[in-house]
Amino acid sequence: MPIKIGNFTLQSRVYVPPMAGVTDIVFRQIVRSIDPQCMMSTEMVSSRALLARPESRIMDLDPDEHPIGIQIFGHEPDVMANAAQLAQKKGADFVDINMGCPVPKITKGKDGCALMREPDLAREIISTVKAAVDLPVTVKFRLGWDDSNRNAVEFGEMAEEAGASMVTVHGRTRQQLYSGKADWTHIALVKKALSIPVFGNGDVFSPENALQLLEITGCDGVAVARGTLGNPWLIPRITKYLDHGILDVAPDEVERLIAGYRHSAGLAKYKGSRIGINESRRHLTQYTKGISGAAPFRNRLTQIGSLTDCAQILSELAYVVGGKEGQERFLRAVEQDDLKNGKEPGEGHSDRESSVQAPVDVRAVLPVAKP
Ligand SMILES: Cc1cc2nc3c(=O)[nH]c(=O)nc-3n(C[C@H](O)[C@H](O)[C@H](O)COP(=O)(O)O)c2cc1C
Repeated sequence: MPIKIGNFTLQSRVYVPPMAGVTDIVFRQIVRSIDPQCMMSTEMVSSRALLARPESRIMDLDPDEHPIGIQIFGHEPDVMANAAQLAQKKGADFVDINMGCPVPKITKGKDGCALMREPDLAREIISTVKAAVDLPVTVKFRLGWDDSNRNAVEFGEMAEEAGASMVTVHGRTRQQLYSGKADWTHIALVKKALSIPVFGNGDVFSPENALQLLEITGCDGVAVARGTLGNPWLIPRITKYLDHGILDVAPDEVERLIAGYRHSAGLAKYKGSRIGINESRRHLTQYTKGISGAAPFRNRLTQIGSLTDCAQILSELAYVVGGKEGQERFLRAVEQDDLKNGKEPGEGHSDRESSVQAPVDVRAVLPVAKP
């Protein structure tokens, strides 16, 4: 049955929830290029910071990307309402309120998961935000602060009463951070208690995991975060498995390296070479994770200073995993990507310029050093 969140209907039961440092516009473009219909959210943005700088790039959206939420955090109802209005102006389909972040820097105020200990304040935030915008308001939270305070069911009921149109529940407590296993049976209790859609979240790393979570929790949809790191194909693979029972094979290693390059090129283009390449290092670690023989290359990828370095190292790795044919496939994809970005291969780029376009000199990458 299609899921309705406020006034919009979802075509997919799979949601990529907010991940700070990950779910930026570049990552979302990559996911959408292979699964256009899944719901996604921006990284969390501080409502307080938006008072001083209302133009945060975290809220940058592609005009065509839907359904998309902007996640805000904070604990002052009026400040949160202001942030929600900015999100609405930006074109978001929904505003998500972060009530689950466990990081001490966030919780030591009353932000993130600290709000699970302040349900009255949380209620006021949700209803004030709801009254300030014409969009559905959603809430993301955990099972509770710790094992002796698992109040997710009451908290979910409060969120629904206060006007939330959907909730995402991560099956861990704040105290657990990311340790232990997500408790899907407790998420089931929240689902049972609410009439708005509930997305279950925690430890879904395969299509089979996603189905299991839905079976155990009875949830309307599944939110998949870490499983998508370096692995955006997981989203369409889950969708196909849930909808048709078909388990698509994961893409081969050369395909993963090509995606790693595209992600890095996208970051360099959007954030400028210096910041983009810096950020791409941790993504490249994910794209090469689990590839046999990749360890020494991964090490080098953590130190790249340019997109040319990135292409060089990945092309060497493509040779290791796919031989000459694999390497040529990789280089062809790099070349096509640069052409698509409006650059002739060979134009090169300087690291000193915070270049908006950061093309790779493909010919400079060849001939490749054989491992
Ligand atoms: C790097 C990283 C950043 C995250 N940032 C956010 C965030 O900004 N807002 C939020 O609500 N949750 C955030 N989360 C939590 C995830 O959305 C998700 O709830 C959690 O990772 C559990 O799901 P998973 O097991 O599928 O990864 C973050 C998680 C990771 C790994």
